Amino acid sequence: MQQFRIRPEEPGDWWEVEALYDLCFAPGREALSSYRLRDDVPPVSGLSMVVRDAEEILAGAIRFWPVHVGASDALLLGPVAVHPTHQGEGLGAFLIREGIVAGREMGWQRVMLVGDAPYYSRFGFSRLHGVEMPPPTNPERVLGMDLTPGGWENVRGAVTRWRK
Ligand SMILES: CC(C)(COP(=O)(O)OP(=O)(O)OC[C@H]1O[C@@H](n2cnc3c(N)ncnc32)[C@H](O)[C@@H]1OP(=O)(O)O)[C@@H](O)C(=O)NCCC(=O)NCCS
Repeated sequence: MQQFRIRPEEPGDWWEVEALYDLCFAPGREALSSYRLRDDVPPVSGLSMVVRDAEEILAGAIRFWPVHVGASDALLLGPVAVHPTHQGEGLGAFLIREGIVAGREMGWQRVMLVGDAPYYSRFGFSRLHGVEMPPPTNPERVLGMDLTPGGWENVRGAVTRWRK
C-alpha cells in the first residue's frame, strides 16, 4: 500500500496544482462560469490541500473559494482532482472529507459546489434550490451541504464573487 501525505497547499505548489487540473479536466476549464467567481479572489487560506506520494509526486489537490449567496457567505468547493494513475483509491474522498472538516472548524456554515450529484451525494451534498450560479450552469449540478445544522436554511439568491 502506497504512502500519501496530505498538507495545506503552499504558494510553491500553485503551478503544479494548475497542471494537475489541466490534466484532469477538459480543455477550457477556466471558461466555466464558476471560474468567474474565482477571478482575482485568493482561495481560502489553509483550506486548500495537496496530497503527495512517498516520492513527493503530486497525486491530488483540492481548493476552496469564498463566495456570497444572496447576503450570506459560503464556501465554494473545487476544483478537486486526483491524478489518473491514482483515481479510485479514495484520495478524492479523503481530500473532500478533510476539507469539509477543516471548513467547519474554521466556522463556515455552508459549502456548495458545481458537480456530479452521484459522486458528491456520498458526502452529504444535495441539490440546492433557489441558489443561482452565473449562467450557463446546469441547476441540477448546483449542490450544497450544511456545515452547521440548518446552514442552508433560508439562504437563497445569486452566487457572487467575494467582496470582503
Ligand atoms: C472526481 C475525482 C476527484 C474523484 O477522486 P477519486 O480519488 O478518483 O475518487 P474516490 O477514490 O474517492 O472515489 C471513487 C468512487 O467515485 C466514483 N466516481 C468518481 N467520479 C465520479 C463521478 N463523476 N460521478 C459518479 N461517481 C464518480 C467512482 O466510480 C468510484 O466509485 P466506487 O466507490 O463505487 O468504486 C477524480 O476521479 C478526478 O480527478 N476526476 C477528474 C476531475 C473531476 O471530474 N473532478 C471533479 C469535478 S466535479
